[in-house]
Amino acid sequence: MGAHTILSCCAVGIIGAPASSVSSGDDLVDHDAAARGRLLFEQRWYVAPSSLGPWGRGPTSNAEACSDCHAGRGRGAPPEAPDEPMTKMVLRLSMQAAAADGAPRPHPLYGLQLQQQGTLGVVPAEGSATIDWIEESATLDDRAVVRLRRPTIRVESLAFGAFGPDVSMSARIAPALAGLGRLEAIPAAALQALAARDAGDGIRGRVSRIAVGSSVGRFGHKANVATVREQVAIALHEDLGLTTELFPEQNCPQIQVDCVRQPPGRGPEVRSDQLDDLVAFVRAVPPPQRRADDDATIRLGATLFRTINCIGCHVPRITPDGPEAYTDLLLHDLGDGLADGRPEFQAGPRDWRTAPLWGAGAAATAGARFLHDGRARSLEEAILWHGGEAGAARARYARLPQSSRSALIRFLSTL
Ligand code: HEC
Ligand code: HEC
Repeated sequence: MGAHTILSCCAVGIIGAPASSVSSGDDLVDHDAAARGRLLFEQRWYVAPSSLGPWGRGPTSNAEACSDCHAGRGRGAPPEAPDEPMTKMVLRLSMQAAAADGAPRPHPLYGLQLQQQGTLGVVPAEGSATIDWIEESATLDDRAVVRLRRPTIRVESLAFGAFGPDVSMSARIAPALAGLGRLEAIPAAALQALAARDAGDGIRGRVSRIAVGSSVGRFGHKANVATVREQVAIALHEDLGLTTELFPEQNCPQIQVDCVRQPPGRGPEVRSDQLDDLVAFVRAVPPPQRRADDDATIRLGATLFRTINCIGCHVPRITPDGPEAYTDLLLHDLGDGLADGRPEFQAGPRDWRTAPLWGAGAAATAGARFLHDGRARSLEEAILWHGGEAGAARARYARLPQSSRSALIRFLSTL
């Protein structure tokens, strides 16, 4: 994949922004900080030094702006055509046999994520990745056939040699950014209580503990990040190649000498007050609006959602006053079909965090892709990939008559 063409320039001066006091509660959002953060979210970052706008990106990166992957605060997407590069998703890497606390072990040559952009003429891109799709189908109990597609990851032009046999790869699309402040505010004790309850079907949700004695993970497809702040700093570092007070070093595996030799900026490339603003913005993005539609079909769909036990994991609300997100934020084994084989802290090779279903309806209408790698082209395809702990719910779905299946999908479309 070659260097990006710069389509538009929108340099934004952020002058002397004061450190903001932001809370995840709706009433306590610092709107000024969130407004500044929004500009940073949309901003293109240039490689150093540049007269085009704010710089510091790289030496290696995957995009020029947060909004490249989270356009309109929405979700990313996988490559569709053969040889289309991954531009709205990332390829996570690690070596098999995780560390004792479950932390993924970085690949010695490529780190924890394949950086698909370098610095032109100075530091090479690490390589490029795409997805080849294998068409398959699922036959439901009434003999209806639903087409599915399975991804195979293809990596090319690796600048520092082959990955080797012990690498684990996980391709992940960017999730939509909505209501995250509300999810962050749910008390850890409520998640523990959910994990301890009997959700039926032998479902065993687990709280993601990131390191011994440390906080509870809730963000990322494997719930491997505890706070919005950490997640934003990781995104700046891994996705854009920007340093912060949390990650002050350039993101270069030691073996990549050209990358390591790039002079570091003076202090973090993204200042602490800018990080605060970005965090304030991400926390303040409101939850998606539910569609007001209500009719007998939608009510039937809502009942089926309960009776076939989708709510075993997609819990409407975790606490009575909490957001209606349709997730338990817990880790579940979803079976071999969805496994990435890459453990991350408490999340095993087949585990994923229950995806929130709020916003799924609008996303489906907009033609979005579902599941961690974006393989599902419809809500129904997403359901049919469920296995493992969700195998019983999937089997009940497959047994429903056509009219009930569409009622369930219509209900999901209102979320
Ligand atoms: C190259 C694509 C890409 C770019 C650029 C990117 N992200 Fe992401 N983002 C992702 C992916 C992929 C995930 C899921 C990561 C995982 O599963 O661990 C994610 C997850 C997140 C999450 C957690 C969402 C959730 O529901 O758990 C937040 C918050 C976030 N990104 C914010 C940002 C911000 C802020 C920026 C800019 C500094 C940014 N991202 C830039 C791809 C991207
Ligand atoms: C055992 C827990 C569990 C059960 C039961 C379950 N799900 Fe899920 N669901 C998940 C997890 C975990 C994911 C994320 C999987 C991934 O990203 O690969 C998910 C993802 C989804 C998605 C895709 C969301 C997105 O944004 O990509 C949809 C739609 C969905 N589930 C609907 C359902 C429906 C409908 C049912 C009932 C038939 C159901 N689920 C039952 C755990 C569950």
